[in-house]
Amino acid sequence: MNILITGANGLLGQKLVLRLCTEANVVLFATGRGPCRIRSATGFTYLEADLLDKSTLERLFEEVRPDCVIHTAAMTDVDACERDPAACQLNNTDCVRLLTELCNANGTHFIHLSTDFVFDGRNGPYREEDPIGPLSEYARSKAAAEEVVREAGIPWTIIRTMIIYGVTDDQQRSNVVLWTKRSLEEGKDIRVISDQYRGPTLAEDLANACATAALNTVTGLFHVSGREVLSILEIAQRTARFFNLDEHHISPVTTEELAQAAKRPLRTGFIISKAEQELNYQPHSLEEGLEIVRSQLKGRQ
Ligand SMILES: NC(=O)c1ccc[n+]([C@@H]2O[C@H](COP(=O)([O-])OP(=O)(O)OC[C@H]3O[C@@H](n4cnc5c(N)ncnc54)[C@H](OP(=O)(O)O)[C@@H]3O)[C@@H](O)[C@H]2O)c1
Repeated sequence: MNILITGANGLLGQKLVLRLCTEANVVLFATGRGPCRIRSATGFTYLEADLLDKSTLERLFEEVRPDCVIHTAAMTDVDACERDPAACQLNNTDCVRLLTELCNANGTHFIHLSTDFVFDGRNGPYREEDPIGPLSEYARSKAAAEEVVREAGIPWTIIRTMIIYGVTDDQQRSNVVLWTKRSLEEGKDIRVISDQYRGPTLAEDLANACATAALNTVTGLFHVSGREVLSILEIAQRTARFFNLDEHHISPVTTEELAQAAKRPLRTGFIISKAEQELNYQPHSLEEGLEIVRSQLKGRQ
């Protein structure tokens, strides 16, 4: 089975490459913008490509002939999306249209990554069938992409997830766990949002769910996140405690006080029973996930 992972240099992309590169019956291709930043995996072919260019994508499909595409690439900086809606639409919606058209022509299974931000955050935790209510450019672009995928006439899987954490080879992007740990280690005082609630998701757990969907062609819409719904402040405090760092350097800030460019849903969280049943999804607890982060960081020193 030929599998193509997009966004291979990103957090989920890197974990997916690691997860799938040892699968016996998989020929793995990974595509990303610029040179490959994955160092800890072998046994895959990396192809540099900008996904906004139609002829590049056509060549990519000709070369790879994928049975399955796992599309993790996206413009993920929510505030940058708010400031540049045109780029957001191109990267998060139009790109999905191009990819699904090619999947349609090739009979390819398309696995799309989406977000808890499609909800308005008034009634979390959410089930798959709950009505959406996107609040930002990013959220609207991802909601529109979901619609494109559903209408594409191909075997599809949409995996919505939230607040992913984990360690990548290049450490180019941070996440709430790494940012908290690093800031406190450097003795900085940090302000963390106290009134937004999410289920922190270990990147390896999410990669496992995507891999199961790919290897077994499990289709449909799935909610995949950590089991516990916590305020972002609590996530930071538990991270501090886990790494024996001084949590007194963390102070709460409200969404209103922070006044970020893009509006965020206050309380999301997912009901994950469908993923547990159909994708054999068994997420680690936050502390188990932090233990994995610790051992990976240790291996890198
Ligand atoms: N991270 C979260 O907390 C979170 C929460 C909910 C949903 N999601 C969704 O989950 C998916 C994976 O997230 P992630 O955290 O792994 O994202 P990430 O670390 O930001 O990685 C995204 C990757 O996509 C690449 N990319 C963006 N536009 C591209 C283009 N036009 N052509 C080629 N590559 C492009 C980026 O390239 P560069 O490295 O060159 O920028 C980056 O490597 C995304 O679809 C995201 O919307 C993430």
